[in-house]
Amino acid sequence: MPESKETITALFLGDVIGQAGVRAVFALLKQVAKRVSADLVIVNGENAAEGFGVTIEAVSALFDAGATVITTGNHIWQQREVLSLLDSEPRLLRPANYPPGTPGHGQVVVDVRGVKVAVLNLQGRRRMPTIDCPFRKASDMIRALDRDTRIILIDFHAEATDEKEAFALHLDGSVSAVVGTHTHITTADARILPKGTAYQTDLGACGPTESVIGFVPQISIQRALTQLPLKNEVSANNVVLHGTAVTIDVETGKATAVTPITEASFF
Ligand SMILES: [Fe+2]
Repeated sequence: MPESKETITALFLGDVIGQAGVRAVFALLKQVAKRVSADLVIVNGENAAEGFGVTIEAVSALFDAGATVITTGNHIWQQREVLSLLDSEPRLLRPANYPPGTPGHGQVVVDVRGVKVAVLNLQGRRRMPTIDCPFRKASDMIRALDRDTRIILIDFHAEATDEKEAFALHLDGSVSAVVGTHTHITTADARILPKGTAYQTDLGACGPTESVIGFVPQISIQRALTQLPLKNEVSANNVVLHGTAVTIDVETGKATAVTPITEASFF
């Protein structure tokens, strides 16, 4: 059967860090989305509230900036004001493999130019909370999706590179893309796996450049030198947006291109 020429492009942005990150996404996302011809945008808002979770105001700003879906991760529980929004806003996700009874949900199906696109958010367990198995949970979720939903995109919020690669290869061919978030550092391994799933170990962050994963370097250095539990503060300088665009064949659900992007802001 000839391959369909119709494609959809999803733009993923890595963890947005602090108000500076939110402002930069607001200023730059529309132009980046236009440049890569994005049909939908998935933004990880995990660190928008000064590094720890996301506020109602930041959720609203990220949607206004052009996010179609906001994914999160382990810090989602740190801003209590957002807990009720996790139940009422279908496009705000938390990792799906938290135990049953946890507020919120980890999956949404959106309509993109008349095509159903599922976005899933899962979380790793290595050096992370010991929640339910993301491998089994993802397989269960994929099995439960409507057979018409061929395009499935996953933000896998995880620390360990080997867990991320194993997760993506486990799902290769059954989803369109698995992109990693959480480490805030972009990896140079964006590629299409053998059975057609786009993959990148970590998108990187949308946060300050002169920093330690987005935070004030002096605090990180002092913590290392003294072993005191000093609290991170978001660094205040120029922000770089890191993300990746994935183009997907609508007929097959397989990725046809994966393109990392970097966009700098200067304020
Ligand atoms: Fe995280």
